[in-house]
Amino acid sequence: MNNAVAFDIYGTLIDTQAVLARLTELLGDKAPAVSRLWRQKQLEYSFRRGLMRDYCDFSVCTRQALVFACREHAVTISEEAIELAMQAYADLDAFPDVLTGLHALRSRGTRLYAFSNGSREAVERLLKRAAIRDCFEAVVSVEDVHSFKPDPQVYAHLVRSCDVPAAQVYLVSANPFDILGAAHAGLRTAWLRRDPGTPFDPWGVEPNVTLESLRDIAHRLPAGD
Ligand code: LAC
Repeated sequence: MNNAVAFDIYGTLIDTQAVLARLTELLGDKAPAVSRLWRQKQLEYSFRRGLMRDYCDFSVCTRQALVFACREHAVTISEEAIELAMQAYADLDAFPDVLTGLHALRSRGTRLYAFSNGSREAVERLLKRAAIRDCFEAVVSVEDVHSFKPDPQVYAHLVRSCDVPAAQVYLVSANPFDILGAAHAGLRTAWLRRDPGTPFDPWGVEPNVTLESLRDIAHRLPAGD
């Protein structure tokens, strides 16, 4: 049977760099520091809410993280500027290697899934905007199980959606924490190392495959048994 391949969204298929450009217009030279802390806090808030069993839409984590990052860096941000920054998150583009990689997998018959902390609506919008929605069987959102990555329940939900055993599902993600979460839940993993300077967490678990780009993904991931 063919493997199913699931893709993380933010930072893996969808380039979040444009958010920095928008923040720079809004905040000037504090934008890079605010932007870095924004992403870190967004994930931290999702981890904490997952542990606390206090689910909310991922966009709430994103918004609250932005407010925190501005406070930390002593930046005053208006409600209007928050809206503009949040809008940038909704209007992001795909990385240039995405279409080639997805098409190569599809043309050999591999079923593809989008898998995200983002709401189904937000992910559908990004994939349609990037003209890649048709490549996917389904958008699998954590909203269905009211938790966040790396809760094992969200990976179990992905596996159920793929309708094959966990060991036949590959998760492709640029986020090491996501790779470790998927491996812990019994999935196979492909770490997309978009930035060669990014280290992997030293937890004694390695990704099954490490990719530098999605262009050659069809050659690097086995098609299945
Ligand atoms: C996602 C975040 C974790 O798309 O990148 O799920």
